[in-house]
Amino acid sequence: MAVKSTHLVSVKHRISAGERARSNKHRGGVLWFTGLPGSGKSTLAVETEHKLFNNGRQAYVLDGDNVRQGLSSDLGFSHDDRTENIRRIGEVAALFADAGFIVITAFISPYLKDREIARQAAGAIFHEIYIDSDIETCERRDPKGHYKLARAGKIPEFTGVSAPYEAPESPEFSVDTQNLSVEECVDELVQYIDLKLVG
Ligand SMILES: Nc1ncnc2c1ncn2[C@@H]1O[C@H](COP(=O)(O)OP(=O)(O)OP(=O)(O)O)[C@@H](O)[C@H]1O
Ligand SMILES: [Mg+2]
Repeated sequence: MAVKSTHLVSVKHRISAGERARSNKHRGGVLWFTGLPGSGKSTLAVETEHKLFNNGRQAYVLDGDNVRQGLSSDLGFSHDDRTENIRRIGEVAALFADAGFIVITAFISPYLKDREIARQAAGAIFHEIYIDSDIETCERRDPKGHYKLARAGKIPEFTGVSAPYEAPESPEFSVDTQNLSVEECVDELVQYIDLKLVG
C-alpha cells in the first residue's frame, strides 16, 4: 500500500497501557481467529465475548460480514481486496486493544502474509487463534448455504472451494471445533485469554 500521508506528528496519550490495565483488571489484546468458512469463528467469537463480559472483562467482537457492510463496503473478495480488508481490520483491532479491550476478530483471513500484517499492527499483544475444522465438516455444516452456492459456481473466489486457505503454521492457540462442542471450545478459549491477559 502506498503511504500518502506526510508530516504527521503523533499526540501522546496521558493514560498509559498499565493504567488502563489496572482500571480494567486485565490487559488489552487481539485474539485473531482464523479458519475456513463454517469452522466456527463467529459462533465462538460471540460466545467467548459473552462469557468474558459476564466475567467483568471489556471484550468486543469484530466480525467479517459486519465490517464488510461499513468499514470495507468498497472492497470485494479478490486477493488485493481481501488483503486491504484485513489490513484495515488489523489497524482497528490494534486501536481497540490499545484502548484496553480484549478484541476478538472473526475473519477467514486466508492468507498467511495478511495475518502477519495484522500481527505487525498490534505487536506483542497479537494472538493468532486457529479455529480448526476440516473442509468436509465445514461443508456439512454450511450454516450460510455458501458452500452449496460455491460448488454450483454461484459464488466466485470462495475460500476452500475456489480460493485458497493457508492454515496457520504456528498459531499461539488453536481449538478443535470438529471434535469439541461449542461449550468446550469456549471454555478453552476463556482459559487461554485469562492466562494471557488477566493477572
Ligand atoms: N465446536 C464448535 N465450535 C463452533 N461452531 C460449531 C462447533 N460445533 C458445531 N458448530 C456449528 O458450526 C457452525 C459454524 O458457523 P459459523 O458461522 O460460526 O462459522 P464461521 O467460521 O464464522 O463461518 P464464515 O467464515 O462463513 O463466517 C455453526 O452452525 C455452529 O453451530
Ligand atoms: Mg463468520
